[in-house]
Amino acid sequence: MKYINNELYWGKVKIADIAASVGTPFYLYNYDVIKRRFKSIEKAFKNVKHILCYALKANSNFILLNEIARWGYGAEVVSGGELFIALKAGFSPEKIVFSGAGKTEDEIFAGVENRILLFNIESLEEILLINKIAKKSGKIQNILIRVNPDIDTATHPYITTGSKGSKFGVEWKKAVKIFEKANSLSNIKIVGIHIHLGSQILNKEPFINCSRFINRFIKSIESAGIKFRYINIGGGLGIDYENDSYFSDNKESEREKSISPKQWADAFISNNKWGDRIFITEPGRFVMAEGGMIITKILYKKKSFDKNFYIIDAAMNDFIRPSLYNAHHNIKPLKKGSKKQIKVDVVGPICESGDFMAKNRTLSVLKKGELLAILSAGAYGMSLASNYNSRLRLPEVIIKNGRAALIRSRENKNELLNNQLEEKIWLDLKKKTAFQQIIKKIEFSKFSASGNDFIIIDNRENILKGINKKRLSKIICNRNKSIGADGVILISKKDEKHLVTFYNPDGSIAECCGNGLRAAAAYLNKYKILGSEQTIESADGSHEIKIRSKIPKIRINILKESFKEQILNIDNNKIKGYIVTSGVPHFVIFVNDINDPQLMNTAKKIRYNKTFAPKGTNVNFVKKETSGKITVRTYERGVEAETQSCGTGAVASAYISRKIFKTKFPVNVITKGGKLTVSRENGKNFLFGEVKEIYCGIFNLQGIYY
Ligand code: LLP
Repeated sequence: MKYINNELYWGKVKIADIAASVGTPFYLYNYDVIKRRFKSIEKAFKNVKHILCYALKANSNFILLNEIARWGYGAEVVSGGELFIALKAGFSPEKIVFSGAGKTEDEIFAGVENRILLFNIESLEEILLINKIAKKSGKIQNILIRVNPDIDTATHPYITTGSKGSKFGVEWKKAVKIFEKANSLSNIKIVGIHIHLGSQILNKEPFINCSRFINRFIKSIESAGIKFRYINIGGGLGIDYENDSYFSDNKESEREKSISPKQWADAFISNNKWGDRIFITEPGRFVMAEGGMIITKILYKKKSFDKNFYIIDAAMNDFIRPSLYNAHHNIKPLKKGSKKQIKVDVVGPICESGDFMAKNRTLSVLKKGELLAILSAGAYGMSLASNYNSRLRLPEVIIKNGRAALIRSRENKNELLNNQLEEKIWLDLKKKTAFQQIIKKIEFSKFSASGNDFIIIDNRENILKGINKKRLSKIICNRNKSIGADGVILISKKDEKHLVTFYNPDGSIAECCGNGLRAAAAYLNKYKILGSEQTIESADGSHEIKIRSKIPKIRINILKESFKEQILNIDNNKIKGYIVTSGVPHFVIFVNDINDPQLMNTAKKIRYNKTFAPKGTNVNFVKKETSGKITVRTYERGVEAETQSCGTGAVASAYISRKIFKTKFPVNVITKGGKLTVSRENGKNFLFGEVKEIYCGIFNLQGIYY
């Protein structure tokens, strides 16, 4: 970072040019600085086995996380949200560690299910809960126990975590007992120790003390028969906020007030023989802080009593460190100001006197409209931002390869209303067990398969938890009031398998749906959830899928490969048909006049005929055309009307045609919605035909409960 012709540049980019492009205030990062900080930690630990787990809380910008994951580092997460983002950003679960004093059951479950490397555990009760959850999932979960060694770090009290009076970890005196208790449980495995002393630690003594403590502690634990594989020393390496010589772009310059990664690593490595053990570090601030700054504009200047103020457009909601920890951040004007200097308070627009970036700071005399950079704001900046005063959260820009890229857009006003309801929803407080949730923004895809259209929702992460899915389907399928569809298909995961559930427009569940299966297969393939030859499960069992040039071929199960002739008495007419179950129950009737207007009236009576009680049946009218071709019209349960096309009905009709008339396979089935083909391969029935995505989008849900 340097001034060229009085203008501040970072790398090759003139910062004022970015401000002109995205407006102020905004966060600005530098790819090279961040990458160098990661490398310097990696290098410091190069003589021991080491996993660097970046502490996401310092900065969880998605694109930055993508980069860090691509560099091969791991992640330290402290909430279900951070775990979700880390996985989405591409961190390998084998390099994710999960900390936090108050993990919820859902968070633990998510960690166990995603097979993360380990949990850093903070209490005996938490150990017992993890054991229970791991047992339920049939897994053995690795854990480290976080120990509070009572070591003073001389840092801000809010960020001291490893001394007496802190809520974190288990007291060292009681730790051996807890290790022993944990070791006796069936579904957890203790693989080491975790200690995080605190943050912004500027000298090496606490780390040296910590290293000695770990050494002593391991001896007492290992004599109890527990083997340590990992030593997690947390994060905490501080930076010299008052010195910005590090901005001299390429070299790791000497810091006056802080220690280097090498001194940090040596505090642990040089004092002990750790053998084959693996070090875990969880740096946050050190790798991020100096790689970021906030660019802000002076809105007004004023003098009140004897104080000078620069009132800027960034505030404590954007960057809270000065207000919360009284933290010092250097401030530089983007255009080198006059030589004349004054003492000023640099303050934000928020209605609190605690809203300041600097107090009594000596800065050059600047004009209204001039721009400032608040330095070393890459860690615990954006990640602690809020909407206080209903202010919009800032955009983020990164400088990489001499160019600047937007990596988060400025929040817009509409987003302030996210999760705000337009109407109140009265809660049913008598339903004590009801989980009530309002979920907005559900992603969906609409697929069409031979005239049937389906809304498909990926519910593998249970985003619809607590939602009344029957009601949801009824609403979605309503063509007058909502998106409209012939059915809703939810994709979920059960025992490593992909399960599809079909909801009819009346909210009932169908055991199977031929066209729905075709749509689900196309969806799973399009979104790369499944390969082209796999199986998917539905309530009626397992279905093979084979996808060739985007057209899925689906195996439809015919129950016991059997059918039964049945004569029904409908309005004093004897009607002969065949009962067959192809995923769902079907009744197949051969007719000469497939366009007879009475057919659907008759079908309705058959659908409710006592022969098919209590579940009822679908009714198919079939006309033989030529050998190998039939026309089919289907009355569908759940729709309670004629459907454009029914996949399982087509298979049932082709199957019966083959049994009765020796119709040759493959059979072309003509339906109102289009042509389907039913083939037979190795004694199994397959269905195929055109299927395509019509559109995808996001809808808002409000108040659909249990
Ligand atoms: N591991 C654990 C378990 C932690 O609690 C923390 C930070 C870290 C690693 C990363 O520590 P670092 O390397 O960043 O020091 N908002 C405060 C800092 C809070 C730190 C919380 N824990 C600030 O702005 O100074």
